[in-house]
Amino acid sequence: MINCLICNSPIEPFIDFGSMPLGNGFLLPEQFNEEYRFPMQVSFCPACGMVQLLDQPDREQMFHENYAFFSGTSRYMAQHFKEFADHVIADYLTDDDPFVVEMGSNDGIMLQNFVTAGIRHLGIEPSKNVAQVAIDKGITTVTEFFDAPLARRIITEYGQADAFLAANVMCHIPYIHSIVEGISILLKPGGVVMFEDPYLGDVIEKISYDQIYDEHTFLFSVASIGHLFERYGMEIIDVEPQGTHGGSMRYVIAHKGTRAVSANVAAQRDIEYRLGLHLTETYDKFRRNCENSRDQLMKLLCELRAQGKRVVGYGATSKSTTITNYCGITPDLVEFISDTTPIKQGKFSPGAHIPVRPYESFVQDYPDYALLFAWNHKREIMKKEEAFRAAGGKWIVYVPQVEILD
Ligand code: SAH
Ligand code: TYD
Repeated sequence: MINCLICNSPIEPFIDFGSMPLGNGFLLPEQFNEEYRFPMQVSFCPACGMVQLLDQPDREQMFHENYAFFSGTSRYMAQHFKEFADHVIADYLTDDDPFVVEMGSNDGIMLQNFVTAGIRHLGIEPSKNVAQVAIDKGITTVTEFFDAPLARRIITEYGQADAFLAANVMCHIPYIHSIVEGISILLKPGGVVMFEDPYLGDVIEKISYDQIYDEHTFLFSVASIGHLFERYGMEIIDVEPQGTHGGSMRYVIAHKGTRAVSANVAAQRDIEYRLGLHLTETYDKFRRNCENSRDQLMKLLCELRAQGKRVVGYGATSKSTTITNYCGITPDLVEFISDTTPIKQGKFSPGAHIPVRPYESFVQDYPDYALLFAWNHKREIMKKEEAFRAAGGKWIVYVPQVEILD
């Protein structure tokens, strides 16, 4: 029997993706034989509503000095985090000489805005290669994993925080009880926690099952987050849906009773109820939707191969690792994946072993079709790639449904 990581109730898997490699585990041919894999199954806890992986690799396996995800690769995300920082500064930092802590600060994409505004800050980023980029920008960064013991050390050295921020990291952490406990002691009585992660409601509605991979221990909802933080004397005071990462939710949380609770919270909980996020049947239907999506994508790719068309993947995202491995996409279906991140180039995609090539390889010899693995950056990419379309190239997308874009 397996128990929920949040409330310890018994849980059962609703989907089994089989043996999966690391989403960001881009590798060289000499590493193929020793490639790490883990059984990827997902379950829903009917008692507290948390959707979660049943197994996960050790954190050091995922976050280390060769971590492949650099936040700054998307200009759109840089703008998004500037707006996030401006919102925090304008609406929540009211005390003199405020102190802001960010967990999972990566290359400093968010905190650089606090540096510019002259605000005291601390980034917490265990992946040393990405942290170094932030340190080089003048961002104060601790290269450790955040948890309750580190929170105590931060208080001793810097004092309590006015704002605790996190983006696309809270959902990565199976030892989340230690995180929330740490936040509850680090946060000043009138302080705020603001974090955003891919939203369960969007994943269910858009059938974006590629949000499920090793790093994403959890898919959060307002219901499950409310339940978790309540255990530590905190409450959600606002929710702000975001378009990033294919549909995310930003949660604004404070010590219970210290700030007014926005009507948005109850409204979003109503939406979740209408979506059936509290029902086991919803997840059974989601599994069937994933199977259909997989079958349709493979049918299309096999037809294109039979017609002798060239298909290239666009964006070696960690999400694409779930797609390529679950669907069984091999290099004879997708010739290579184009990606702008130097550390991924020249390597091969996890599990499926499709070559990852620099963006120039895409531009120099346009394929007939580009499979948009980085679909969450669709707006930015479509704008950038008008010439591909003008040259007769076509896009294949699979979220919210498998289709060729005209
Ligand atoms: N916030 C950035 C980066 C997200 S990737 C963005 O949204 O683009 C997740 C990051 O969290 C990685 O850089 C990883 O090293 C870091 N991380 C993982 N576990 C962590 C922990 N316990 N404490 C702090 N950072 C952590
Ligand atoms: P992203 O979707 O942010 O992350 P995840 O790994 O969490 O699924 O990753 C985007 C990837 O796509 C990243 O490796 C950079 C690449 N990319 C391009 O190659 N070109 C682009 O124009 C953009 C926006 C991203």
